[in-house]
Amino acid sequence: MKILMVCLGNICRSPLAEGILQHLIDQHRLPWQVDSAGTASYHVGNGPDPRSIEIAAEHEVDISKQRCRQLSNSDFYDFDLILAMDAENFNNINNSRPSDATADVRMILNYSSPRENRQVPDPYYGGGFDLVYDMLWTACQQVVKEHSDSYTV
Ligand code: 4NP
Repeated sequence: MKILMVCLGNICRSPLAEGILQHLIDQHRLPWQVDSAGTASYHVGNGPDPRSIEIAAEHEVDISKQRCRQLSNSDFYDFDLILAMDAENFNNINNSRPSDATADVRMILNYSSPRENRQVPDPYYGGGFDLVYDMLWTACQQVVKEHSDSYTV
């Protein structure tokens, strides 16, 4: 299973989602890969926002070595699953999705709140990194549960 986490800037939410899922992959020794990207290019090459690094570190998750990249055409063929943080990301991803793409595009919080299309709030201006972390932790646990029949979470 190859999963790509996507938000707008790839410095706040999707780096946390990548870090949390990587933590669960390591913990459960899953043969999975996870990465993250942004729909925008503003922060390409930068590390995650210090506030995301800090909240992750409080939970023993190290995201400090991640580097921002933009979503690319090949991602639609390289990944099985592309998980959007909010409706804007979801629409942007689908608008650039090639018609023969193999990746499935979903809203990440539909794992923890099925069919509700809930969104992970953008914390870049307003803050709320601890709430974002908790939402992503719950959703990522559910991602693992749903896609790994032979593992117990
Ligand atoms: P993210 O948050 O999409 O969770 O990484 C943002 C980061 C940067 C900006 C917007 C949202 N920005 O406008 O630079």
